[in-house]
Order: sequence, then C-alpha cells, then structure tokens
Amino acid sequence: MEFKHILVPVDFSDPSKQALEWACELARRYGADLTLLNVYPVPGYVLPDGFVTAGPEILGEVEAKTRESLQEWAAIAASQDVTQTTIATALGQSSSEIVRWAAEHKADLIVMGSHGRAGLALMLLGSTTDKVVRQAHCPVLVVPAAPHVATK
Ligand SMILES: Nc1ncnc2c1ncn2[C@@H]1O[C@H](COP(=O)(O)OP(=O)(O)OP(=O)(O)O)[C@@H](O)[C@H]1O
Ligand SMILES: [Mg+2]
Repeated sequence: MEFKHILVPVDFSDPSKQALEWACELARRYGADLTLLNVYPVPGYVLPDGFVTAGPEILGEVEAKTRESLQEWAAIAASQDVTQTTIATALGQSSSEIVRWAAEHKADLIVMGSHGRAGLALMLLGSTTDKVVRQAHCPVLVVPAAPHVATK
C-alpha cells in the first residue's frame, strides 16, 4: 500500500486545517505530494423564475480570491517539508467535485475533516464527507473535528 498522491479538500474551516496537518504528516512519511482542492458553488441569485449566474468578471474574482487563500494554506504544507503541494479549484457541488477530481487525477488517499464550516456536532459527519466516504474510489481518512468545534 503506497500513498503517493494525497487529496485534501479544503473549505477553510478549522477541521479542514486539522486534516491538512494529518495530510502533511502522511505526505512526509510516504514521500507523497499533496493537492489542496476547494470547490465553490456557481455564484448567482435565485429568483422566483430561475437562477441568474454571475458574469465572467465576478467568477474571475471568486476564482482569484479562492486561489489566493489556497496558496496561503499550501504555504503551511511547504513549511512542513512536504515535497510538492499544488492547489486546485472546482466549480459545482462539493462532494461530487471532490470525488470526480480524485478519480480523474488518480489520488490514492483523500484526507478531510469530519465536519466543516457548518460544524454541526449533531451529525456524525458533515454532508460533504458523508457523501465522499460513500462514493470515492480510494480510501478516505476522516480527521475528527476538535471537541470545541464539534460541540458548537
Ligand atoms: N466546498 C468544499 N470544498 C472542499 N472541501 C470541502 C468543501 N466543503 C467541505 N469540504 C471538506 O469536507 C469536510 C467536512 O465538511 P462538511 O461540508 O461535510 O461539513 P459541515 O460544513 O460541517 O456540514 P454541512 O456542509 O453538511 O452543513 C471539511 O473539513 C473539508 O475537508
Ligand atoms: Mg459544509
């Protein structure tokens, strides 16, 4: 069993930062590279008669801001001696994009938080992680949220 390419889905929550810490440790041990992936929804407005999608300018701004934030998180991995960390973004529904990205890029492990930005401890797992665990082609390491996060 070898882990060479680890995918870390990041929603910029504390639990996903903890997942990144674990992923860095594993990457060092296995000599794996990391990809930090953020999925964001198509920006727009829901109106009574349909959905209006944001234009290319706003889409470009969201993409640039997301990449900037991912670079900051990638710097954490670089500071922990991970050989190679790349960033990626995807537009759409989080769990399906994570599963699709992992399969297309042949990730051999996904490391993600048990919860994310919503942090509802009532649920055993957040809905993104729940679906990824069920649908991913590869193993998924679920890092539990710290107690102070899980009891929110
Ligand atoms: N949009 C996203 N892009 C990338 N990774 C994500 C995204 N959303 C969640 N994740 C990953 O999934 C983990 C769990 O988040 P999840 O969305 O399942 O829980 P939640 O936000 O607490 O609850 P929910 O979204 O179901 O209301 C996060 O720690 C992160 O690793
Ligand atoms: Mg969420």
